[in-house]
Amino acid sequence: MQTVSTLPDLRQAVDELRADGATLALVPTMGALHEGHLTLVREAARHASRVAASIFVNPRQFGANEDLDAYPRQLARDQELLAREGVALLWAPTPEAIYPHGYATNVSVAGVSEGLCGADRPGHFDGVATVVCKLFNQVRPDMAFFGEKDWQQLAVIRRMARDLDLTMPHVDAIHGVGIVREDDGLAMSSRNAYLSPGQRAAAANLPAAMRDAIAALRSGSALAPTLAALEAHLLQAGFDSVDYAELRDADSIAKLGEATDTARLFVAARIGGTRLIDNMEVWSG
Ligand code: PAJ
Repeated sequence: MQTVSTLPDLRQAVDELRADGATLALVPTMGALHEGHLTLVREAARHASRVAASIFVNPRQFGANEDLDAYPRQLARDQELLAREGVALLWAPTPEAIYPHGYATNVSVAGVSEGLCGADRPGHFDGVATVVCKLFNQVRPDMAFFGEKDWQQLAVIRRMARDLDLTMPHVDAIHGVGIVREDDGLAMSSRNAYLSPGQRAAAANLPAAMRDAIAALRSGSALAPTLAALEAHLLQAGFDSVDYAELRDADSIAKLGEATDTARLFVAARIGGTRLIDNMEVWSG
């Protein structure tokens, strides 16, 4: 696997990878890789002949009081993991390769970015859309892979790609990959590394409380008391606060007042200083 960190090196590497007409998939990440990220890489390898990954801890998507400085950075380990998965190219840009001196452009997606994490983290999805737009223009992949763990992010990127003609005009260019979970159900996340053993054990209550809420909705419980019970379960289990617990339409991210067949349950909750998010389909199959 080749690692490049400047644009001229990237151009040359991408031209070489594509010289024989190979298709190229991109898996954008912020590093501190886990099985969730590696599952995206494996899925990418099933669809394209070559896989490129990127690692960039993007300052524009972190709020002023968020964990930019603390965010785990472990490039050597990540390189080893990606090489083992057969990734051909790692784009690990310098900050200047993404935000050159005088950088002044912002990509902002309305609608799907509103509410949920968009409400709790002002500017977050502008930061995500901006950096992903740049990564697409820099690497020019045929397709890209994102996790459903960040469902709203995936919706923002799909909307942006369609609106700005960033990918070939078939929806499948932006692939969504199902959430990879630990044995106790907790969605894998680079931020789980912040949890103490006690907090880590308590964190498994997040998916458990969501599954309980979904079971209640399926058996006809009303939405408001079900969400109130979910919130109470989390606080009782050791979470410090619940940022949101809402039903939203899976595609438009519009808020729902009842469990329609396109509903998804979205929760963000804090334990210690760590903010965890998860989402689940209400009706499956
Ligand atoms: P990061 O949090 O590193 O995640 C990179 C990709 O891995 C995202 O598409 C995310 O949804 C996916 N992912 C993370 N945990 C997952 C899990 N448990 N199961 C499935 N997929 C999972 O998301 C970002 O980085 C950034 O916002 C980025 C898109 C790279 C832009 O900076």
